Amino acid sequence: MSGRIPQSFIEDLLARTDIVDVIDTHVPLRKSGKNWQALCPFHDEKSPSFSVSQDKQFYHCFGCGANGTAISFLMDYNNMGFVEAVESLAARAGMDVPREGGGTVRSETNLSEYHELLELVIDYYRCQLKEHPQAARAVEYLKSRGITGDAAAKFELGYAPPGWDNLISAMGGSDAAQQRLAKAGMLIQRDSGGYYDRFRDRIMYPIRDHRGRAVGFGGRVMDDSTPKYLNSPETPIFHKGKELYGLHQLRGTSPARLFVVEGYMDALALAQFGISGVVATLGTAATRDHMERLFRMTARVIFCFDGDEAGRRAGWRALETALPLLRDGRQVYFLFLPEEEDPDTYVRRHGPETFEDEQRYVPLSDHLLNTLKEGTDLNTREGRAQLIDRAMPHLGALPTGALRQLLIQDLARLARTEPEQIDPLIQRPAARGTQKLRPRPRHMPARGETMPMLPQIIRLLLRRPSLGQLVEDTKPLRTGPPGEVFLADLLDFIHSRPHITCAAILENWRGSAFEARLRELSGTQDDSDMDALDLEREFMGAMERLQAQRSRKERQDWLQGKRLEDLSADQRAGLRNPRPVGESDR
Ligand code: GTP
Ligand code: MN
Repeated sequence: MSGRIPQSFIEDLLARTDIVDVIDTHVPLRKSGKNWQALCPFHDEKSPSFSVSQDKQFYHCFGCGANGTAISFLMDYNNMGFVEAVESLAARAGMDVPREGGGTVRSETNLSEYHELLELVIDYYRCQLKEHPQAARAVEYLKSRGITGDAAAKFELGYAPPGWDNLISAMGGSDAAQQRLAKAGMLIQRDSGGYYDRFRDRIMYPIRDHRGRAVGFGGRVMDDSTPKYLNSPETPIFHKGKELYGLHQLRGTSPARLFVVEGYMDALALAQFGISGVVATLGTAATRDHMERLFRMTARVIFCFDGDEAGRRAGWRALETALPLLRDGRQVYFLFLPEEEDPDTYVRRHGPETFEDEQRYVPLSDHLLNTLKEGTDLNTREGRAQLIDRAMPHLGALPTGALRQLLIQDLARLARTEPEQIDPLIQRPAARGTQKLRPRPRHMPARGETMPMLPQIIRLLLRRPSLGQLVEDTKPLRTGPPGEVFLADLLDFIHSRPHITCAAILENWRGSAFEARLRELSGTQDDSDMDALDLEREFMGAMERLQAQRSRKERQDWLQGKRLEDLSADQRAGLRNPRPVGESDR
């Protein structure tokens, strides 16, 4: 075997491995809060201090300090070498280990192989819709749903004919071919061995990712049988909570607004009526991943829900998911349809105007206040207090900014009090004047003490790498001391990999001078009570302090180059009364 194992492969491998499964095979784990626990396999103990975090893909023993990734676990537990451990995990994940310059398939091509395969499957199903002897039924069904030929073509609709082995006969010529189709989610393995087609006698909706690559399918029955829809299972290239149906058609555009609907048919119908910028979640509630992806393309997202109870619930969930993301002028609206209607039926009955009518969009903040107000009697102090109580977590979830400020004012008016009275009740105080007051995060020393910020920041990034997306520019860090340059490297690494885990970060720096420290900082602290907001708040607070430390240091360096008598009276006064953090240095 020649050549190094490419780092990109290690990343793929970790992305397709779950450390909980890996360890659980050797050391039975028990769920404990967010993490998993066991008696530590690396030292003798009576009560479990060995903890495995699924989020971080990292294990840690509070007793003996053993820690690491799935790869480290196999190395330490099975006395394996690095390569051996990687090969063992790869075998588990059904991947071949490539070598740099070794002529073996690279991991990139590994995944693109699936995309290419599904491309052929799309063609196959489209072709069946035109040519299969029983396709008339499918065409008839599409017509009955009012779908035009253009729309069917644009969305690449197809037909999976009835029968257990149509796709297998057409594309599964060899065992290897069948295995690939199965891994891509298109076949199901029989208990008795062999495979059968997953999608049978269904209208096929190809699903493409934001880059237009084929990743999976939804398939709808043409009658009342169940399940109404079948989706591709999770595969190496298909992750339901990340994909948005229709998104790829917007590639390269920056739409003024995007609609989010629930169903394939809804996306299709709206597109057919000339409404552009519509995406559908794949039968799940809109996730944070979804929303972040949307906000990368537009500042304005309109969620369109059915007018029934389920729609309202879905709307509220979307609201809660969106709150922490509402910075930089991002706007969320809701468009609630009358009961018994979904966007598909509505647009066909009433035309597209409603969807373009901005008057109909309910701003998220209105929806928030209206919902909070429901059932509270604002004529009583008790009712008004209840309103404030209910609002606190939501206000706390909103990033500081104009929207939050305005909401506080409105809430104060409703509760017949002053914004200043409400402010301190929110867990996160708002910015006041030029001096940004941040709450003192839990792990931080009290005012006056100094604490190196860097380890804290890195610890938070290991806990939740996506926090790194909050830092836009890493350039200023690059002029700093080595630790800050490392932080810049780490942030850049995270920026280019939105779904990276702690484990992948550790593996990237394996064998470097930073490895030991990174592992130490990855230790699973008991921060289970911290939610996403706490983490964001703490992270931004720490970044600000780091910056403040840097400006203080710069000022000191500057002063050291001067003698006191060279300073102006103002500067001397400034030395006695250091300026508050946050005020800029001239
Ligand atoms: P039509 O009934 O054809 O109008 O479908 P729709 O697109 O309006 O779907 P609906 O509003 O009933 O459901 C919204 C989405 O949830 C669908 O597009 C699917 O992605 C998903 N979904 C609905 N029913 C099922 C199901 O039985 N199984 C699965 N896996 N997903 C479903
Ligand atoms: Mn529908």
